[in-house]
Amino acid sequence: MKRGKKSSDAGDPVTNSDTRTGSSELDAMRPNLSSMKSMGLLLAVLMAASVMFSLSVVLRDPPSDDVVETEAASRVILFRFHQAIDSDGGLSEKKEQLDDVLVHGFDKESCLSKYEASLYRKELPFKQSSYLDYRLKKYEDLHRRCGPFTRSYNLTLDKLKSRDRSDGEVSGCRYVIWLNSNDELGNRMLSLASAFLYALLTNRVLLVEPGVDMADLFCEPFPNTSWFLPLEFPLKSQFNGQSLLHDSGNSLFAYRHVVRDSSDQQKLFFCDESQVLLEETQWLILKTDSFFLPSLFSTSSFEQELEKIFPEKEMAFYFLGQYLFHPTNVVWGLITRYYHAYLARAEQKIGIYIGVSESGNDQFQHLVDQILACGTKHKLLPEVEKQRHLPSSQVLNRKSKAVFISSASPGYFESIRDVYWENPTVTGEIISVHKPSHKEFQKTQRNMESRRAWAEIYLLSCTDVLVGTSLWSSVMDVAHGLGGLKPWVLNKAENGTAYEPYCVRARSMEPCSQTTLFHSCKVKDE
Ligand SMILES: *[C@@H]1O[C@H](CO)[C@@H](O)[C@H](O)[C@H]1NC(C)=O
Ligand SMILES: *[C@@H]1O[C@H](CO)[C@@H](O)[C@H](O)[C@H]1NC(C)=O
Ligand SMILES: *[C@@H]1O[C@H](CO)[C@@H](O)[C@H](O)[C@H]1NC(C)=O
Repeated sequence: MKRGKKSSDAGDPVTNSDTRTGSSELDAMRPNLSSMKSMGLLLAVLMAASVMFSLSVVLRDPPSDDVVETEAASRVILFRFHQAIDSDGGLSEKKEQLDDVLVHGFDKESCLSKYEASLYRKELPFKQSSYLDYRLKKYEDLHRRCGPFTRSYNLTLDKLKSRDRSDGEVSGCRYVIWLNSNDELGNRMLSLASAFLYALLTNRVLLVEPGVDMADLFCEPFPNTSWFLPLEFPLKSQFNGQSLLHDSGNSLFAYRHVVRDSSDQQKLFFCDESQVLLEETQWLILKTDSFFLPSLFSTSSFEQELEKIFPEKEMAFYFLGQYLFHPTNVVWGLITRYYHAYLARAEQKIGIYIGVSESGNDQFQHLVDQILACGTKHKLLPEVEKQRHLPSSQVLNRKSKAVFISSASPGYFESIRDVYWENPTVTGEIISVHKPSHKEFQKTQRNMESRRAWAEIYLLSCTDVLVGTSLWSSVMDVAHGLGGLKPWVLNKAENGTAYEPYCVRARSMEPCSQTTLFHSCKVKDE
């Protein structure tokens, strides 16, 4: 564990080729470390852990025999983890929550983000309804019974292969297949969350076409089964052709587009009559590229159920997203290393998403000014002192804020960083400005770029305050939706010059950019 040679690449502060990244603290427990220093540390950890363990035995009701061992093991790991966190930012107060999660968890190492997310993201005071708990549990049971390669799945698949349209349900399993559009990651997450809610409402099993990167980015969300569509699925070769559309619409399978430029015909998907027709269909293949979740709320046959599942409609994506989207260990490594290197120590973390490219120098400086004006006006960022250059060693207030900038072009980041480098703040606060990616990462599908995009969205969702150039971005949508944040949104500048109000607070934490693009069934009036 050589830490001396830190890479200057901001996106990957500690270069590490281990694919189980994010678990470097766990690695310390392995016996293959050679240096004496590590051994000494290990010894100290084990001793401390045994003290903790004895304490836990004394202070608690005696645990039953079979959990003693796993509990002890969990505590050793926990102790190391806490040590790392204590020395690396004030997250220690969250210890107990993690304790609870880890002790009951199993197979933690396959997806660390599921168990550690609460250390990085603020938790909202809202809990999901017990009815949602119940529905998710029920869904998990269904998915386990009907998931890929189960007996029920094989039976249903055989029927499809032999085009056996006879009535009589063989297995009671029905599916909705989410096709991977290879669109921007944010859009895919929004449409996938919508498809999952649709599956939940219609008692279908959601299967995800993995595409090139989905399995690399997301852990399996449902226990002891897989949500990925098996490679050898028979209709797969037709997914991108027109023939599916012609063939479809029988009790075996149906193919539907739920996309932004839907024709009127396709909008009928949200009508009750269409839903009744689909009820018998075993395989529903869904091509969708956007957030159609709000349209489900306006489908009258789902209304009652949705009211029970989400007493606060505003939080549907927040709860579904937190349930579904867990970064794989390799992405979790990108997220946690970045977080600890640049963000953890700051008292407040401010995320800024800039979706505007740098073209046109005029507009460029205006936008930087507007972001700073918005920040200072609403006390998100301190003003700078341009006349008196008081060195910060003279200042008593040593609070710090970290500004995390997500934008495709580096110019905005450099300008904002320079403002806080070249001038002291009037409050004396120390402002550090960071930006992980210098690439147009959204444009390509190569795996590292998707990983970085996911890491960036996740890091934005971990901030305390989010500011965006507009709400019309799937990155912003997912970031504030997952983080449960109501972002500040810049007002559109007129003639390149912004006036007050420089920005306004969004009313909702739900993704909103795409909702107006969709229509409910009521639109069909011809
Ligand atoms: C389902 O089919 C697959 C291969 O087609 C087979 O490997 C698997 O064992 C089958 N599952 C059951 C439960 O029979
Ligand atoms: C998943 O499988 C493991 C081992 O096969 C088992 O111990 C565990 O209880 C299962 N979990 C659920 C939720 O069924
Ligand atoms: C923007 O420019 C147009 C024409 O150049 C002008 O009519 C308008 O008043 C300007 N708006 C503002 C807010 O300055």
